[in-house]
Amino acid sequence: MINIPQIKVRHLSLGDDINQVARLIYYTDEYIFPYLFDNDIKKGIPVLADMVKNNTIYNYNNVTAGFLHEKIVGIVISQNTPITIDLHEMANCFVRCGVSVGDRFAKVYNEYYKLLEDEPDGIYIANVCVDKLYRKMGFAKAMLNSLLDDKNTYRLETVKDNAGALHLYQSLGFEIDCEYPGFTEVPCYRMTRKSKIKGD
Ligand SMILES: CC(C)(COP(=O)(O)OP(=O)(O)OC[C@H]1O[C@@H](n2cnc3c(N)ncnc32)[C@H](O)[C@@H]1OP(=O)(O)O)[C@@H](O)C(=O)NCCC(=O)NCCS
Repeated sequence: MINIPQIKVRHLSLGDDINQVARLIYYTDEYIFPYLFDNDIKKGIPVLADMVKNNTIYNYNNVTAGFLHEKIVGIVISQNTPITIDLHEMANCFVRCGVSVGDRFAKVYNEYYKLLEDEPDGIYIANVCVDKLYRKMGFAKAMLNSLLDDKNTYRLETVKDNAGALHLYQSLGFEIDCEYPGFTEVPCYRMTRKSKIKGD
């Protein structure tokens, strides 16, 4: 791994480059977001940016960002559970951006977002993404290390064949709980990093 002393990790604020955050959200999952926006990132960016500004799981308060020379090169989105997914608030982001809310949104809502409301107690990590040009340089690890502590239990999901993500999470103490058919039946792992507080 290359050591990058210039890396800065901090919470996102509304003055930051929200479109870059939206872009990184889009690239977090190769199944969900290209499907949701019909493979058109130009539709996805304004809608996801609107979600970052509004009361959705992608709200800027949930975003930890990695910066290199003031440029956002990575994001981690996490939220304490229970999570409430406001369907109307999400749909309004599409409407405001002139992107139609159709069957694709209904499918992603039913098969992904709605299920987040059943997450057990702890912290759910919804998105981890590093810009393609800056991968394997320690950004994801630095962002997650700034977030993780031994008090809380963290949960996340990853596509089974995502070797990079799997290696990253296991190196940070996450363990595989189970395999399940994720969105569009793609095999996924559910992973947990347990609290180290006794009795938890
Ligand atoms: C997965 C991802 C977030 C990793 O980010 P990154 O900044 O490149 O990861 P890091 O440089 O911090 O690497 C952390 C560890 O994982 C390893 N790793 C990273 N990418 C890897 C890959 N493609 N294959 C194997 N190992 C990999 C690193 O070597 C490092 O190992 P070490 O701690 O033993 O030295 C990045 O590849 C990405 O954004 N992918 C697309 C979106 C995605 O899949 N997100 C995860 C969704 S669950």
